[in-house]
Amino acid sequence: MNGMPARLLDGVAVANQIRQDLRPRIDAFAAAEGRAPALGIVLVGEDPASEIYVRNKLKSAGESGLRADLFRLPETARLDEVLAVVRDLNARPDCDGILVQSPLPAALGPEAEQVVFDAIDPRKDVDGFHPENVGRLVQKRPSLVACTPLGVVELLDRSGIAIEGARAVVVGRSDIVGKPVALLLLHRHATVTLCHSRTRDLQGVCASADILVAAIGRPAFVTPAFVRPGATVIDVGINRVTDAGLVRRIFPEGHRRREDFERRGSILVGDVHPGVAEVAGALTPVPGGVGPLTIAMLLSNTLKAAEARCSGSR
Ligand code: GUN
Repeated sequence: MNGMPARLLDGVAVANQIRQDLRPRIDAFAAAEGRAPALGIVLVGEDPASEIYVRNKLKSAGESGLRADLFRLPETARLDEVLAVVRDLNARPDCDGILVQSPLPAALGPEAEQVVFDAIDPRKDVDGFHPENVGRLVQKRPSLVACTPLGVVELLDRSGIAIEGARAVVVGRSDIVGKPVALLLLHRHATVTLCHSRTRDLQGVCASADILVAAIGRPAFVTPAFVRPGATVIDVGINRVTDAGLVRRIFPEGHRRREDFERRGSILVGDVHPGVAEVAGALTPVPGGVGPLTIAMLLSNTLKAAEARCSGSR
């Protein structure tokens, strides 16, 4: 313990800055094209978390001067019906970005997401999930990159945390966060270690990090023992916890989050234990850290896709 609580990296403030920076480009696009940059969001079924995410994306897009249209399909939709919506959006000249909200209903089968994401026109793939965009990212060629990884790097940059030469440890090897964030940090000249559930001496590897990115999906998994004093810790986890015993183990008596839990019956907990705030030099809160950046980068990607399509540069 270094005694000094970590500096909290305020994702809401940074996301607001990003949105302000996008504004003149959105206005210039609208003036040149006679329409706002447009995002089509496809939501299949009624997953409660997805409902909230999609509502936030629609609201944020509208407030920033983008057009966002929601295309809803019932829980019982067939794969060919989902694909038909994607193909229609691919063909529409007034649609610049397409986002199919994950997860798709389990009834569509384990391969459905890959099939649907592969069907999105790579130039409209604002999630950066299409294999063409993933390949371009690996080769450090211009491409649409997944929003959460982009948000992590923006948050570091705009918080004045140096990436070049830093030891960066990423925990979690998902296609959506772990792998792309490792690649972005590598391209910014960090020395990157990508860890996962089979990593030997995970604590020791993490404790060597200047920048530790936790993208595991397990509440409060990263305890102070994983963190070198003064390190920057980026918490990508958004875990809804409903287990009162777990909440009591994570948060000490009298903690504000315990009271939130008593009132609501559930709370969102990151992958990072609250005790890390006593060790880290800088830390992202959950909520209010990486989450708002993800939405800001979705708006940024939609504008980027719109500009690229309309200038014919790709
Ligand atoms: N579900 C949770 N996060 C995401 C995301 O970034 N993109 C999509 N399409 N679905 C999600």
